[in-house]
Amino acid sequence: MTIMQSGVSDGTSPACAPVLRLSVNGRQQCVETDPATPLLLVLRNDLALNGPKYGCGLGECGACTVLIDGVAARSCVIPVRGAAGREITTLEGLGDSQCPGPTQQAFIACQAAQCGYCLNGMIMTIEALLRRQPDPSEQMIREELRHNLCRCGTHIEILQAARRAVALRAKMAAPVAPEGGAP
Ligand code: FES
Repeated sequence: MTIMQSGVSDGTSPACAPVLRLSVNGRQQCVETDPATPLLLVLRNDLALNGPKYGCGLGECGACTVLIDGVAARSCVIPVRGAAGREITTLEGLGDSQCPGPTQQAFIACQAAQCGYCLNGMIMTIEALLRRQPDPSEQMIREELRHNLCRCGTHIEILQAARRAVALRAKMAAPVAPEGGAP
């Protein structure tokens, strides 16, 4: 598979490998690949985005979770053609080590990992929840994470991190009071 940047084919692609246009983390990418290739493999192997992990490959563990148009999706079972023309967000799209996004900050602060393999999926799943419901109940958080598997049993810390992410995002969204008192 070959990757080309900026959405323009170089014209040398073999006819049997179509070029697909993807929008990933706000950047336009063109990838030459079989349209049935799982999105996860394209993200990792062609675009060097290793946030999404390969766990079960069957859509059951959640390690490969990305956002597609803001909704959590299991990239191991989605053919790349199904993501073309839609906005794909991976863990890398939320922030980086220098400037992590609020959900990432919450997981770092709570040290909500043991081996850490499941964490990408946990963070992306909580991110999707908070984008559609900024103030979820405890039950909603637990429901949302119910199908993301953690074999280390770090669930207590993961739930703490999810709650902290809710609080952090609320704080960031709150209007800043002008100096000298309330508006
Ligand atoms: Fe995709 Fe397990 S690797 S759900």
